[in-house]
Amino acid sequence: QALLRGRRDLAGVTVAVSAGGTREPIDPVRYLGNRSSGRQGVAVAVAAAERGARVLLAACNVEAEVLRPAEAAGVEVRRAGSAAELSEVMREVAERADAVIMAAAVADYRVDAVSERKLTKEDGEPPVLRLVENEDIVAGLAARRRPGQVVVAFAAETAVGEELLARASRKRRRKGVDLIVVNEVGWGKGFEVAENRLLILGADDVVVADVEGSKRDVAEAVVDAVGVAVSAARG
Ligand code: CTP
Ligand code: CA
Repeated sequence: QALLRGRRDLAGVTVAVSAGGTREPIDPVRYLGNRSSGRQGVAVAVAAAERGARVLLAACNVEAEVLRPAEAAGVEVRRAGSAAELSEVMREVAERADAVIMAAAVADYRVDAVSERKLTKEDGEPPVLRLVENEDIVAGLAARRRPGQVVVAFAAETAVGEELLARASRKRRRKGVDLIVVNEVGWGKGFEVAENRLLILGADDVVVADVEGSKRDVAEAVVDAVGVAVSAARG
């Protein structure tokens, strides 16, 4: 793997990547969020940039320290907070991209009626938050993709083995994406830890990659698969 690094095989290719996790506002000071640090998406962005790609990164609530390697690698960073903001940023960057890699953890739901003022216990009863479903951003990008554009989704699943593969396969079809990067998560697995294992599924459920290692190793595998798909799409 180390020997393969240093290739500039993505020169002339533009890649849009999302990283981190969305936050859905409840009131001016509170949100519904998730535990995604953005490290995996940033690692993908850095791997692509180091191989010569122009990389546009939509960073959702990624800490400055996590983002630093991307900035150092020349990645162009745009920020987003909520899923709605991320959708807008992705639509804009996808217009210029040969490949779109949706690594961000997007909230499935948002709060229906965001409070204009901070909720307080003086309101009386504990609040009941009504949630409404967010748009599926990657499915929308796949449906509107430019000819030859490669669209990649991620799936973090708590299922294992056959069930993991079956869920990922259904998810890939449902979203209409070319590749789905699947990893097993659980308490202390995947999120906020350095080691990862993942599978990449392509059309007809072909396993394009099965790798274990650091987020960087995993990122290289994702970028390899994307590079192959972009070349194939360009013919
Ligand atoms: N995703 C998205 N927009 C959403 C939800 C998810 O673009 N509203 C993207 C994620 O960025 C990821 C992929 O879809 O690339 C899979 O996310 P996941 O949460 O596994 O898929 P869901 O369709 O939300 O399925 P589930 O009900 O299992 O959460
Ligand atoms: Ca989800």
